[in-house]
Amino acid sequence: MDISFHLNGTPVSLKGISPTTTLLDWLRETRHLTGTKEGCNEGDCGACTVMITDDQGSRALNGCILFLPQINGKHVTTVEGLSAPDGTLHPAQTAMIDHHGSQCGFCTPGFVVSMACAHLNGATDHDTQLAGNLCRCTGYAPIIRAAQATTDAPVPDHLLFLALNTSAPQPTQTPTSEQSTLQPTSADALAAWYAAHPDATLVAGATDVGLWVTKQHRPLGPTVFLNHCTDLRGITETDDTISIGAMTSITDLETAIAPHHPSFAAMLLRYGSVQVRNAATIGGNIANGSPIGDGPPALIALGATLHLRHKDTRRSLPLEDFFIAYGKQDRAPGEFVEAITIPKQPDTLRCYKLSKRFDQDISAVCGCISITRQDDMITNARLAYGGMAGTPKRAAQAEAALIGNPFTEATMRAAMRAMTDDFQPLSDMRASAAYRLQTAQNMLLRYLHEANGVPTDLREVRA
Ligand SMILES: Cc1cc2nc3c(=O)[nH]c(=O)nc-3n(C[C@H](O)[C@H](O)[C@H](O)COP(=O)(O)OP(=O)(O)OC[C@H]3O[C@@H](n4cnc5c(N)ncnc54)[C@H](O)[C@@H]3O)c2cc1C
Ligand code: FES
Ligand code: FES
Repeated sequence: MDISFHLNGTPVSLKGISPTTTLLDWLRETRHLTGTKEGCNEGDCGACTVMITDDQGSRALNGCILFLPQINGKHVTTVEGLSAPDGTLHPAQTAMIDHHGSQCGFCTPGFVVSMACAHLNGATDHDTQLAGNLCRCTGYAPIIRAAQATTDAPVPDHLLFLALNTSAPQPTQTPTSEQSTLQPTSADALAAWYAAHPDATLVAGATDVGLWVTKQHRPLGPTVFLNHCTDLRGITETDDTISIGAMTSITDLETAIAPHHPSFAAMLLRYGSVQVRNAATIGGNIANGSPIGDGPPALIALGATLHLRHKDTRRSLPLEDFFIAYGKQDRAPGEFVEAITIPKQPDTLRCYKLSKRFDQDISAVCGCISITRQDDMITNARLAYGGMAGTPKRAAQAEAALIGNPFTEATMRAAMRAMTDDFQPLSDMRASAAYRLQTAQNMLLRYLHEANGVPTDLREVRA
């Protein structure tokens, strides 16, 4: 496969690359740009953070789980490219020195690249912006002080230039049926090729697939990269529905859903880290069939419909019906997720993500609850949970115990009892079965208290 991109402002063309080479490996091993560090090699630590700029803007991504085809047609800025051509340090670099933000220095390049991306985008929620970067010796207070000190400095011209000089990626190849790696530029091209190669691996944001390569050393076989299918990306609204393309990133979903369902958006801010949310797509989050993904419970509680496509044939189904059993989804060979639609509705959704860490952690339980009332009688209830079964699953018995009853603690407690018939969760390293069930039940009480204006948010761990 042939690709071209800009590296720290210089054009690069590569021929015959292995499509599963990660940007991190290529930078370090081929270009000897060793400022970008390898810590975990699985998206957790941010030591490998790079800035990627394209027609969508500039964003921080983890280079360790970014395959080379995913940077095709984009600008890549590494820590070596942050300082100006005359050697003037980036304001984030200067601030890290001034505020003693670095000791051993291993994490520092990742931090300054994240800070530079936040600075370029005018983001000042520094705890959130840096939650995907781990430091094991300095402590976070000096680093946050450095980020704060950077805020008012102007964006260096050479980085502004990148942001202003991007264009939509051009097709680099005409798909042929013999090709074993493809980067189509439309859903139509993807549909035709995937139908002819139903065993191929689809790569969306690679926040799962990347780990198959870096951790499991799994060969991917024929591979198709979806990131140039711009018609699969983005959110459109009508009077009645919100339609989300499969390639919409979690970052973009969070921004678009916030005015409609702020609790969903708040929960998405705890999905991985900035770097993970910038890469991960909602289509991948559904298609991977994980029982602990954070997107599906909220979407199921909102009554979402999933749209699948095989060649030119499309079908739609309630999202919950897609998840048949652990590791088994209702998706035929050669069929892919095209979009998800949510009916527009008054906001009654609350999302509760329970994990050991506040940021950058997978849910032990993710409960998403939507209860509709009329004159304080419950007229409808949708309760969808992750982490409670082999699939994201509705609590049908608990819902039945709610509907038609008054919105009171007695009703909630009846539904909590009924929930014992809905779920038989597992014990694992994240939580015991008993803990999972009790906390899932207690989320109903939390919903009631919040609806009655009682504060419940105990956010004890803040930097
Ligand atoms: C550090 C880290 C933290 C994470 N934290 C969270 C978290 O807090 N919450 C959470 O829910 N998840 C989390 N994840 C998991 C991951 O981000 C999600 O599952 C993600 O949404 C997958 O999307 P992707 O675009 O990266 O998919 P990919 O990795 O590209 O693909 C995932 C799977 O879906 C398939 N696929 C992708 N797109 C389509 C499509 N359109 N149609 C059919 N199949 C498709 C792929 O073939 C593959 O099987 C985390 C991952 C990492 C590495
Ligand atoms: S090396 Fe840890 S996130 Fe990439
Ligand atoms: S300075 Fe040593 S890990 Fe952060």
